[in-house]
Amino acid sequence: MSVDGTNVSGFYLQLSGVTHRFAFTRRASDSTTAAETRADATSAPATGTWYHLVGVDDVAAGQLRLYVNGLLQSTVAHTGNWKATGTTAIGRGRFGGRPVDFLNGAVDEVQLFDHALTGSEVAALSGGSGGTLNVDVAHPAHSVPSTFFGVMTEDINHSGEGGLYPELIQNRSMMASTTSPTGWSAVGGSAIALDADNPLNTALTRSLRLTINNASGSARAGVANGGFWGIPVRPNQKYTASLFAKASPGFTGPLTVDVESTGGTVHASGTITGLTTSWKQFTVSLTASADAPTTATNRFVVSATSGAGSTVWLDNVSLFPPTYKDRANGLRPDLMEKIAGLKPSFIREPGGNYLEGRTLATRFNWKDTIGPVWTRPGHQNDAWGYWSTDGLGLLEYLEWAEDIGAEPVLAVYAGYHLNGTHVALSDLGPYVQDALDEIEYATGSTSTTWGARRAADGHPAPFDVKYVEIGNEDFFDKSGSYDGDNGRFAQFYDAIKAKYPSIKLISTARVTARTADIQDDHYYRNAEWMNSHSSFYDNTSRTSPTKIMVGEWATREGSPTPNLNAALGDASWLAGMLRNSDVVTHEAYAPLLVNVNDPTWTPNLIGFNALTSYNSPAYYVQKMMADAHGNQVLPASYAGTSTVNTVVTKDSATGKIYVTLVNPSSAAQIVNVNLSGAGTLPSTGTATTLSSASPTDTNTIGDPDRITPTTTSISGVSAAFARTVPAYSVTVLTLG
Ligand code: AHR
Repeated sequence: MSVDGTNVSGFYLQLSGVTHRFAFTRRASDSTTAAETRADATSAPATGTWYHLVGVDDVAAGQLRLYVNGLLQSTVAHTGNWKATGTTAIGRGRFGGRPVDFLNGAVDEVQLFDHALTGSEVAALSGGSGGTLNVDVAHPAHSVPSTFFGVMTEDINHSGEGGLYPELIQNRSMMASTTSPTGWSAVGGSAIALDADNPLNTALTRSLRLTINNASGSARAGVANGGFWGIPVRPNQKYTASLFAKASPGFTGPLTVDVESTGGTVHASGTITGLTTSWKQFTVSLTASADAPTTATNRFVVSATSGAGSTVWLDNVSLFPPTYKDRANGLRPDLMEKIAGLKPSFIREPGGNYLEGRTLATRFNWKDTIGPVWTRPGHQNDAWGYWSTDGLGLLEYLEWAEDIGAEPVLAVYAGYHLNGTHVALSDLGPYVQDALDEIEYATGSTSTTWGARRAADGHPAPFDVKYVEIGNEDFFDKSGSYDGDNGRFAQFYDAIKAKYPSIKLISTARVTARTADIQDDHYYRNAEWMNSHSSFYDNTSRTSPTKIMVGEWATREGSPTPNLNAALGDASWLAGMLRNSDVVTHEAYAPLLVNVNDPTWTPNLIGFNALTSYNSPAYYVQKMMADAHGNQVLPASYAGTSTVNTVVTKDSATGKIYVTLVNPSSAAQIVNVNLSGAGTLPSTGTATTLSSASPTDTNTIGDPDRITPTTTSISGVSAAFARTVPAYSVTVLTLG
């Protein structure tokens, strides 16, 4: 489309023959040699597809702008004011006094306006809508606490056992069942059974008895373990196999330890000799061959090809891959890297329901979770339905935080169970003492009883624990035992404050008998609720001495991990919490991890199986906002035709401004950003956007990168600029 001059058109809104992209072009005068200014589209159009084009000549602003489908493509400086006065032409332009650039296509709905359209007007024309975000850059509302972004963990969905805790053998300690060796099966000429008469020690009170009935030549007798939905093999994969063994008189071995495919192809192998009639630990390094396939359809086999008639007892049979930062009894590297990528300032651990258990016997009894792993009895994780060896014990939880530069928010058992019972208030003393001992184990010097025990366990340096949470979700306790002057909270509070006055104490329900430093609120809701409650904490009292930790929250849509719609709800809710981070000092999404073979609870932030792992769209929301935020919240208000949830922060050191825009709607939105009091701003920045065509789109084990954020450079930033955010999107602008 154009308007004729004598020699050239006054403007051209066209598919440029030069760039093969849509463009809006102005000439400085009616001459083929006059200077040309052109606003280009960011990408080439597809043949056969309708596009809505708007070229804006904004004389007052000295700008040419091109919009495609309501989205601003580019803004270029233009100050000429020559106007052609001839015919309005559709389907051609004019150059050198002749019609040129004949269109090979179709045009419809042509409109000319007598003023420069605003971004909102363009959005409305193209079927979208928009609004205005007014930001007061000169008067920050409050600072963002360094504690704000965190993570929460517990052993749920095999997130620890069979997950982050990388032991590859299921039921290595033979304690998962009282009647049979769960997870183990006989191989070749053997018989296997659980043996309570030959315990390894007072903690592992059952061993596996392997009776060698027939074994000779290539005929083996042994026992196999399929791991947690398989055992990973990759080229050159390294493992440390270790086990305790003893044998009937006369049999000294050898035993072969193999990682082999379920079809029998051996990928890594080692030998154990020197068995005696007493328990002895054996350790062998295994390496898969360079041409091993990448697969999880494998098992671990301990077998003999001699010794028919002999008996072998096995216990604490372990197959460990390399760990994050090479920690002894450490954690799974790919998952640790993903968690570290969130830059959490804290980890709320170890639960959750897992901390409480259904009964007193199945709580997280921390004293049973320390020391050499073969001295840990383990316990039935009846909160989530599987056995925990407690290989991931208290020390490992604390080291997890340390390894990624986070502080532990240590949750201590406080006498309540998921079955609704609680320890009588008069009997609570030993459990309060357990909590004091636990804090001493974590923080005490090596001259204290439990600090010395921590040093003996391999970690002489104390951990920095500034926050202790008393219980979990005690608002479920309808007996009233949590609050009250002699209530459970008060008993723990008084004892901990007396010994550790600087530790801040977190309640898990509203309490009146004592003043909690922080109260832990939990929110699991759908996307619609999260999007419409971004302002939930806007009117919370600022006078209460008790701050808020939202220690568990998630938009519950998608399985086993959240879809984009859930991520949008998360972004709205997270933006609201960050805006109110003078009150909400800590936030942690939950749950963090899911073994996709056991999604007891959905959704979860990070998914994995034996071989690989992936980030959900919700993970990227957390990461985008943790990566790009300042240390001050700026007052900001948004008004528009549709919900766009926002938070604006500024880095007081660099002056960078971070604008988060969450658009959960199905239409693109033009956001006019007014930054008052910003002074001189650099005109460039970046935009990081997470979006997809459909809100139900998601990432999976098989399609892990379907939705990932993209970062592009932006220009044209000023005290007042427009930004179009796509439908179903989260955008974080970094300005400056
Ligand atoms: O995050 C899953 C569970 O939700 C937690 O264990 C519990 O605290 C909450 O009810």
